[in-house]
Amino acid sequence: MSYSPSDKRYDSMEYRRCGHSGLVLPAVSLGLWHNFGHVDVLENCRKILHLAFDSGITHFDLANNYGPPAGSAEENFGRILKQDFHSYRDQLIISSKAGYYMWPGPYGEWGSKKYLVASLDQSLKRMGLDYVDIFYHHRPDPNTPLEETMAALDLIVRQGKALYVGISNYKAEEAAQALKILKDLGTPCLIHQPKYSMFERWVEGGLLDLLEKEGVGCIPFSPLAQGLLTNKYLKGIPEDSRAAKATGFLQESEITPEKVQKVQKLNELAIKRDQTLAQMALAWILRDKRVTSVLIGVSRPEQVTDSLQCFRNTWFSAEELAAIDTILK
Ligand SMILES: NC(=O)c1ccc[n+]([C@@H]2O[C@H](COP(=O)([O-])OP(=O)(O)OC[C@H]3O[C@@H](n4cnc5c(N)ncnc54)[C@H](OP(=O)(O)O)[C@@H]3O)[C@@H](O)[C@H]2O)c1
Repeated sequence: MSYSPSDKRYDSMEYRRCGHSGLVLPAVSLGLWHNFGHVDVLENCRKILHLAFDSGITHFDLANNYGPPAGSAEENFGRILKQDFHSYRDQLIISSKAGYYMWPGPYGEWGSKKYLVASLDQSLKRMGLDYVDIFYHHRPDPNTPLEETMAALDLIVRQGKALYVGISNYKAEEAAQALKILKDLGTPCLIHQPKYSMFERWVEGGLLDLLEKEGVGCIPFSPLAQGLLTNKYLKGIPEDSRAAKATGFLQESEITPEKVQKVQKLNELAIKRDQTLAQMALAWILRDKRVTSVLIGVSRPEQVTDSLQCFRNTWFSAEELAAIDTILK
């Protein structure tokens, strides 16, 4: 049966302007790092994408290496896009990235012009697209001049293969340099994608201020710390969780008793706020207006439904914020 999206899909989502650009993004976006590879069940991927779009999520985030195997998330996404979303391409913001290892030899990772241009061409083929909306450099490269990497992003936009460009995993100082080069080239950086959650707060030490000052958007990834900031690991490691899966990036060793104790306390606070912990963890990030969108991952449609209810309460009292800081210390 063909997919026909809900007529109400734009009614309840909040859209935030991405820095000083013309683009707005949904306050919650969906990433396809896990659960969309060839190792996963395609019908589940399809259901998640349908529900996300039906709920107003217009932005889907990919990268060359998502899978496993690497590339297969883009292939699966491309297949579903062709079958179900082909009439809706202009309502979607699709991103991809290059930076991590993708193919053997000296040209298959990092930040050379050779790698970035070739990788995006491969991504476009896998997804069956003429262009991506956002193309990111995935991680800083200590050995390639930043001027070359940024010139590659500028070139890609001029070639019409991406509409906007972004950077990911750049610390504040590296980001400042990259933003300056891109501005001078005439292709301003749209957005930065850093890791940010209650457990990982480095962006508060300068990056968020820089992005605000420069008019660049911010889309934090792993806002739930890959599932740790949910009620999932309160009583051990469930069999179907990312930590238990052989292909999951979250290691069992990261779920330490100290962390679980903090999660338990955060969970009690979330219950007092009449939220699930996932909802509170997302709301806590979204309370900062410098954040354009939070980039979540999900393994099943119900998690989309649960997480999107974060909008019911994104306000925190000073006492609640202090209590969270105390728990996280
Ligand atoms: N730029 C980069 O370097 C970079 C790096 C990492 C990620 N990213 C991007 O960020 C996206 C999100 O990253 P992430 O997947 O680590 O995000 P996350 O939202 O922190 O974690 C997602 C995991 O949390 C669990 N979960 C989600 N919603 C839940 C809910 N409501 N209740 C209970 N559990 C819930 C699920 O775990 P289970 O699978 O165990 O059910 C899900 O797979 C990626 O897909 C990717 O697009 C970018």
